[in-house]
Amino acid sequence: EKQGFRHYMLKEIHEQPRAIRETMLGAGVGADDVRFDGLSLDVSACARIVMLACGTSFHAALIGRSLIEGLARIPVEVDIASEFRYRDPIVRTTDLALAISQSGETADTIAALKEAKQRGAQTLAICNVLGASLSRVADQVLYTHAGPEISVASTKAFTTQLTMMVLLAIHLGRRTGHLTAERAKALVDGLQDLPAHIDNLLAASAAIRIVARRHQGARDCLFLGRGLCYPVALEGALKLKEISYIHAEGHASGEMKHGPIALVDGNMPVVVLAQRGPGYGKVLSNLEEVRARGGKIIAVATLGDHTIGDLADDLILVPDVAGELQPILASIPLQLLAYHFADLKGTDVDQPRNLAKSVTVE
Ligand code: M6R
Repeated sequence: EKQGFRHYMLKEIHEQPRAIRETMLGAGVGADDVRFDGLSLDVSACARIVMLACGTSFHAALIGRSLIEGLARIPVEVDIASEFRYRDPIVRTTDLALAISQSGETADTIAALKEAKQRGAQTLAICNVLGASLSRVADQVLYTHAGPEISVASTKAFTTQLTMMVLLAIHLGRRTGHLTAERAKALVDGLQDLPAHIDNLLAASAAIRIVARRHQGARDCLFLGRGLCYPVALEGALKLKEISYIHAEGHASGEMKHGPIALVDGNMPVVVLAQRGPGYGKVLSNLEEVRARGGKIIAVATLGDHTIGDLADDLILVPDVAGELQPILASIPLQLLAYHFADLKGTDVDQPRNLAKSVTVE
């Protein structure tokens, strides 16, 4: 049941601290390593990882790519499952095909993993539902422990997939030798702190509702992000369009000038992921460009950032954490923003029109 929440989506957003904690428990997290008891991957024989997924799970895969390449230095490709299965993909026996699916019932993801398996790849699935069809196709399975997700819009499944991506990157990085024990320990410690940070972010729900109310009449919305937060922008846009029916696009900040900036005017909220990190200076100049064209900026920035306030119309602050963990925290306010936009509009939040929870046909 909804346990006092107006919608399953809101309940599931609030379950994220627990869901992340349980996903870590299930993985066997040590002080400076992640064991994944029962998993047997010959990491030295794995020349490449090919990730396959749809929708929100595809966004988790995009973040996973940067994490695994960054921490383990294994080349990773990501493909939309429905594209991969029909494009005569190159697959080698030294490839590990990794399918990501909350339900484990998505027809295209299952077919894509079968295709990779037939072509000789080792297969692994990351799934949230025990014994789902996908788990019967894959050689091995890792489970996120988000618990049942009822709302069509995926929230806790996404952040547990992101948690799993960090855990897998640590596991692989320790085995390829690229990740030092010290750095792994810092990441593990950072992961342990996430649930408390998320509790604090959830407490800002009422403030985010005010932001949504201020932009209530908007018909379009842009989401911009860089690096690890580029897929977070894609996910923020997907969430908003899915439940509020507001036209939303996510873009890599660096692509702004190559087209999307033509859309910006005084009626266009632009959500910018602007946490501190390597691309921060560039994000600030993107903000200035949007502002110069009258766009309304909603910035997600790092707690303690005093420069950004003058550039943004609305500011949402998230705790300062390691770059690898930023996508998880940045996702929370975007989920709440989409939720409040939709709830204020009065749409059917949990059962948006035209959508099904699992897409079991192509
Ligand atoms: O169960 P899966 O993770 O395979 O589902 C994939 C997509 O259908 C799903 O993530 C969809 O995009 C969500 N409705 C997004 O909120």
